[in-house]
Amino acid sequence: MIAEVTSFLAGYWILRAPEPDDQEPVEGQAELGYWLLRRYWRQGLASEGSRELVRYGFEDLGLTRIFAMTAAANNASRATMAAGRLQCVRTFHADPGDWPPGTDLRAVEYAITREQWNAQNSSRP
Ligand SMILES: CC(C)(COP(=O)(O)OP(=O)(O)OC[C@H]1O[C@@H](n2cnc3c(N)ncnc32)[C@H](O)[C@@H]1OP(=O)(O)O)[C@@H](O)C(=O)NCCC(=O)NCCS
Repeated sequence: MIAEVTSFLAGYWILRAPEPDDQEPVEGQAELGYWLLRRYWRQGLASEGSRELVRYGFEDLGLTRIFAMTAAANNASRATMAAGRLQCVRTFHADPGDWPPGTDLRAVEYAITREQWNAQNSSRP
């Protein structure tokens, strides 16, 4: 999903199949990601796009689990995951080969299952 605001690219949101190194291959699972140009930060766009992709993943694609991973220190990304109603399910150390030397390798995974998503939606007015 690509968002345009007044004809300019604002950023992207993606649902992709997990890389084999990231996760055990689980049928029906996808990883959520996003990136916005800085001038569009803090306007609620990442949250809105993430919520819509989660809805699309469960309702239209029939996924069973959606997860997202980020650096533990990336508070904006973590808050965006939480806004998409994903919950933190684990902390781990990223592969040092994936990052420049000296990078803080602490990372987190957030996730939501279709059962959790259905339960949250059925309890809404
Ligand atoms: C992460 C990113 C997409 C967030 O985009 P955004 O449009 O600013 O996010 P939103 O406005 O929807 O805000 C989502 C939540 O993050 C919080 N947030 C946003 N920027 C923040 C910051 N710098 N520090 C702490 N919290 C922040 C908001 O307060 C909001 O939390 P709330 O729901 O509790 O109010 C954006 O910062 C970005 O593109 N960063 C660079 C790329 C990146 O880190 N991508 C993720 C890689 S895993």
